[in-house]
Amino acid sequence: MKKLEKFSSHEEFSGLVRLFHWIRAFAIFGLIATGFYIAYPFLQPNSNHEPVGFLQAIIRSWHLFLGFALIGVSFFRLYLFIFDKKSKLERESFSQFGDIKVWIGVILSYLWIGRHPHIKGAYNPLQIVVYFSLAVLVLLISLTGISLYTHVYHSGLGGALAPCFKWVEVICGGLANVRVIHHILTWAFVIFIPVHIYLAVWNSIKFPNGGVDSIISGKRYQKSK
Ligand code: HEM
Repeated sequence: MKKLEKFSSHEEFSGLVRLFHWIRAFAIFGLIATGFYIAYPFLQPNSNHEPVGFLQAIIRSWHLFLGFALIGVSFFRLYLFIFDKKSKLERESFSQFGDIKVWIGVILSYLWIGRHPHIKGAYNPLQIVVYFSLAVLVLLISLTGISLYTHVYHSGLGGALAPCFKWVEVICGGLANVRVIHHILTWAFVIFIPVHIYLAVWNSIKFPNGGVDSIISGKRYQKSK
């Protein structure tokens, strides 16, 4: 008869970390959709003699609403990562970052030719690199986004932020380039999302110890000794 294996669980991602993951995921989906519409407004409102056909402006408002939500949540997420007691496991991941054996083990297991090494903390070294790059990507798209925003709204917040973000325009070599860079960065997200979903699901199937469901339940399972 097959021996039953016992598993114990621990909380890998706190409630706030999970909530922020999904807010950011939906915000990014919405930003890609509304952003591509801004770039190529393929829908036109019905013609009307009253000035009410502001479809593009409405979609741009949604883009900005989601953009500022992404920025706010990302700040809070960074705060949790650095200071929250419940994010200790995430921070512990760095302890193996310089271990070449773990790197090789992770890469071999991703290539289906080795066993996944034991990971201390929440992420393996490859995940750390990818998630760090994603954070840099969010930072760059937010900086270019705010720079564009200051040219769309000249009073209120836009007017107040304009002098603080002029340097973004200068570094990019002009406003037209800011727009192009913002657009190109969008494609980096478009590439990241399917790879991220594929690897999360693949991990769950290959190592059924919580994988993709841990970002919903927060739990990771380990074999009890
Ligand atoms: C994942 C995040 C984001 C994505 C995928 C994204 C995507 C896009 C795209 C594709 C465009 C059209 C560019 C073009 O004309 O070719 C755009 C425009 C714009 N985005 Fe974003 N964006 C993001 C974040 C942000 C943020 C954080 C802000 C600011 C808070 C922002 C503000 C703007 C503004 C002001 C425009 C120009 C609107 C206009 O021309 O009327 N975006 N975005």
